[in-house]
Amino acid sequence: MSAVPALLLLTDETEMARYLKEELLIEGGYPVFHETDVAAAVSAFRNNPFPLIIIKLDMPGTVMDDLIRVFREIDQDCIIIGFLNEADPRMMRDGIKSGVYDFIFKPVNMERLIFLVKKGLELRHIMTLHRQLLNDIQEHNHSLYKQNNILARRIEESTKNMVKLYEDLRSTYMRTIKVLAHTIEAKDKYTRKHSENVASYAAVIAKEMGLSGEELEKLIEACELHDLGKIGVEDVILSKPAGLTPAEWEQIKLHPNTAVEILEPLTFLEDVTKLVKQHHEHYDGSGYPEGRSGDDILLGARIIHLADAYDAMRSARSYRKIPLTKEEAVEEIKKNSGKQFDPKVVEAFLRVVDKVDF
Ligand SMILES: [Fe+2]
Repeated sequence: MSAVPALLLLTDETEMARYLKEELLIEGGYPVFHETDVAAAVSAFRNNPFPLIIIKLDMPGTVMDDLIRVFREIDQDCIIIGFLNEADPRMMRDGIKSGVYDFIFKPVNMERLIFLVKKGLELRHIMTLHRQLLNDIQEHNHSLYKQNNILARRIEESTKNMVKLYEDLRSTYMRTIKVLAHTIEAKDKYTRKHSENVASYAAVIAKEMGLSGEELEKLIEACELHDLGKIGVEDVILSKPAGLTPAEWEQIKLHPNTAVEILEPLTFLEDVTKLVKQHHEHYDGSGYPEGRSGDDILLGARIIHLADAYDAMRSARSYRKIPLTKEEAVEEIKKNSGKQFDPKVVEAFLRVVDKVDF
């Protein structure tokens, strides 16, 4: 502590006040500002930052608690030394509860009073530092909070940009792959629009079976890409009018895995790729490429398989120029229920076939 601070003394006893002022100044070096009534003392306290007040607590016409509260409301850290005519235990207990630092009594022991003032001012100094520290921490926290908010907003914006970038990239990839898949179909006049038809049949069956919106979306993407792997099959085999040789069949049967090789790096298509891979599996395990059976085949793949087969029957092909009639194709599907096709998918298909093939 550098300069000696002035103290405030509130007492209606003028003689006693003069004595205390002199002693505190001479013995302790503390200048004292004296007021005889509460209103004047409060006004002085409002205008000057007295760190310590000595208050006569048993002045006539005053209530100790109110007296202390009024000073505390102006400066919650002010040190209050209570001055009593005598050591009244009840007043001292109540005074401490209200925030009095310590007490002096008549006759005043100046040595003790100067000691209390010194210790009180040291405490006040520590409290001031503590409060400043708290304020600094609060300001620092506030500034951190603001910086955090700015950072959070920037991260949010960057995330939005990245999500948009990712969506753009995904959509560009999807368009490229779909163009590739359509190019393969378009090479053969008999398979033009095949994927589109498969998607229509599959979507209606999937809705009938209660698949979710997300599952439906993946199913339709898988339909559009299901024969992408035929890019690896020679054109002469794809458009061959007569029966295929066993070796040619083996080449055809590679197309689900070829599609997987093309699509696998596109991790966002992981679920779609699985459906594409399994679209030639048969319910009884006689399909390819893995010979999966029953529920070991993804439901979406079982649906695509039926839709694929039905559209093939209902369309002209290089090896069969006249398509099957709807009745013939439906009959063929029924005949293969539980063998090539999942009976549950067949049932759903039979309930909705008229919606898509009329
Ligand atoms: Fe296929």
